[in-house]
Amino acid sequence: MAITDRVAVVTGAARGLGQEFAVALARLGHRVSGWDIGDLGETADRVAGVGGEFLPLKVDVTEPVQVSAAVDEVVERFGGLQIVVNNAGIYPPIPFEDTTIDDWRRIMRLNLEGPFSVTHAALPHLRAAGWGRVVNVVSAVVFLGPPELVAYTTSKAGLVGFTRALANAVGADGITVNALAPGLTSTDTAVKTTGADGGFERVRARQAIPHTESPADLVSTLEYLCDERSGFLTGQTINVDGGSAFR
Ligand SMILES: NC(=O)c1ccc[n+]([C@@H]2O[C@H](COP(=O)([O-])OP(=O)(O)OC[C@H]3O[C@@H](n4cnc5c(N)ncnc54)[C@H](O)[C@@H]3O)[C@@H](O)[C@H]2O)c1
Repeated sequence: MAITDRVAVVTGAARGLGQEFAVALARLGHRVSGWDIGDLGETADRVAGVGGEFLPLKVDVTEPVQVSAAVDEVVERFGGLQIVVNNAGIYPPIPFEDTTIDDWRRIMRLNLEGPFSVTHAALPHLRAAGWGRVVNVVSAVVFLGPPELVAYTTSKAGLVGFTRALANAVGADGITVNALAPGLTSTDTAVKTTGADGGFERVRARQAIPHTESPADLVSTLEYLCDERSGFLTGQTINVDGGSAFR
């Protein structure tokens, strides 16, 4: 029988994919804490709409002190923590020659250090439960390497390495670690940045399934990775991009 009352943290939950993931986990019955530097009100309303329990926390995941205080707050409120969805990330398109060391560090800091800090702080609680699911949101760019996203692709490829090695480090404790790789998905940020100059049309043209990916297209895979019955699936990168990256 599926157990659906775990405690989950979703980072970058104020909008886009993170909001969708927080609502989906709450809809299943998990208690969810959404973390963001932005306003989590809309996510809280959507979670309430599905009858879920939600703890919104203002957390900058690049600040380890804030991260560990937030983990403590989640555990105090819900009595434990078993599911971590490392979703917060940035993907500014920058030509490689124009990429400054500050751009590079900013991207690595959020996309790589963030998941490190969050997972590191949460892990003792997953171990204590003898059960855990870590899902790292990467990107189909790790298979495609688009030229305007060198720093971003590097950060997400690093997160794939983190996924594999950490899966080995924690597998014996009932904890799985997997990566979920979306293709270009119609969140507000993607529409404003990557998709602004016809990116959606170009990406759609190389997909086997020619529609624009939406956050809802990723939900069933997130649920599958977090499922009680998926305990033998670990260290993998699951690409959900309408069949773009294999072509
Ligand atoms: N949308 C896409 O096309 C797409 C494709 C592949 C992968 N992804 C990945 O999916 C994830 C979400 O993408 P999205 O399009 O939903 O992005 P988004 O910009 O809509 O949402 C990201 C959220 O992260 C929050 N955030 C930013 N910095 C933070 C910090 N320091 N601490 C805590 N929260 C912070 C933002 O406030 C925002 O609410 C990212 O990791 C992205 O790289 C997105």
